[in-house]
Amino acid sequence: MITVNENFLKLQSGYLFPEIGRRVKAFANNNPNANIIRLGIGDVTEPLSPAIIGAMHKAVDQMASKKEFKGYGPEQGYDFLIEAIIANDYKTRGVSLESNEVFVSDGAKCDTGNIQEIFGIHNIIAVTDPVYPVYVDTNVMAGRTGQADNKGRYEKIVYMPCTPDNNFVPQLPTDKVDIIYLCYPNNPTGAVAKKEQLKVWVDYAKENKSLILFDAAYEAFISDNSIPHSIYEIDGAKEVAIEFRSFSKTAGFTGLRCAFTVVPKALKAYTKDGQAVEVNQIWNRRHCTKFNGASYVSQAAAAAIYTEQGKKEVRDIIKIYMSNAALIRSTLQEIGYEVYGGVNAPYVWLKTKNNMTSWEFFDFMLSNANVVCTPGSGFGSAGEGFVRLSAFGDPANVAQAMERIRKL
Ligand code: MLT
Repeated sequence: MITVNENFLKLQSGYLFPEIGRRVKAFANNNPNANIIRLGIGDVTEPLSPAIIGAMHKAVDQMASKKEFKGYGPEQGYDFLIEAIIANDYKTRGVSLESNEVFVSDGAKCDTGNIQEIFGIHNIIAVTDPVYPVYVDTNVMAGRTGQADNKGRYEKIVYMPCTPDNNFVPQLPTDKVDIIYLCYPNNPTGAVAKKEQLKVWVDYAKENKSLILFDAAYEAFISDNSIPHSIYEIDGAKEVAIEFRSFSKTAGFTGLRCAFTVVPKALKAYTKDGQAVEVNQIWNRRHCTKFNGASYVSQAAAAAIYTEQGKKEVRDIIKIYMSNAALIRSTLQEIGYEVYGGVNAPYVWLKTKNNMTSWEFFDFMLSNANVVCTPGSGFGSAGEGFVRLSAFGDPANVAQAMERIRKL
């Protein structure tokens, strides 16, 4: 008899975005004339920039040439990309990395989901609430949690509420935790963490031999120079943190797929009897066993982002999304909404009106403005009463969505 991994049966409803897709599809079927504007999932709408497309064309031609064709590449990624990452994303911010500390992959979603596999099942994990659901669901699947309660909170996970009162940066937990997931600029609240706030976490992790899993997928949207782009800008962080980055939002790679994870050699985890083990080696072992590398074409495309032309083009596209964010923020503020985020992050976090729940507000917006948002409660119980609007829409659609919401 085949048995299932019963941990999967603990998961609450469907994954958030397919569930939203299902509801939007049902609405569209019943309202075939509705012109629906999607500001729900954070999916980019601007095409890849010319420098990236040029690099891809060249890479495709190489794949057509007997001499230059590439089969399997290094599982960890091509040196040309890793070197460009280290020189541009880290060296410029005073962080030195060795090339074997960077692992190129096909997405930060996969990496943030897979990383927990290499850590013991009895680690206590701490997540912010609201949180990107992948961190929680993958730990549930692995069996690191108990059942969910009626608020959808799983036993054995430490939830750290992020609310307007703490500017969406959590306080240290009172219980000792082993693995802490942090995401800044934050998905979903659009909040950022200052250096001194991240230092508190790094110090905690050092003191408690804990690990920080730092998701920096949205760092390219930071405009305030005082905000750190990498956790490694904090002294000592290499001993306690893994960092995840993605080209998805930075450069429009959601459909192309390329990302990377930094696992410093200084980072140690421990055996039950307290022996220190290099996490980099374990992740490398896992990566080589389960992954055959991101495609050459997408890595060539990613490397083009680091050319002078590529940098400029990518910055211009980010400006488009951030002016969407500014429009969303200002419109909603003008009509009396309580609004957060959207300044150093492409997400705007909005308090619903009239005590509507997140899903009630989602339905209200969909039915009355034909605009799709993401219910805050889908990111955790502290997100109840909020929704998230993505700034990744087409500017004309975002402007139209704001006009419709203004008239509600
Ligand atoms: C989101 O909307 O939260 C993101 O697009 C999801 C993701 O990056 O996987």
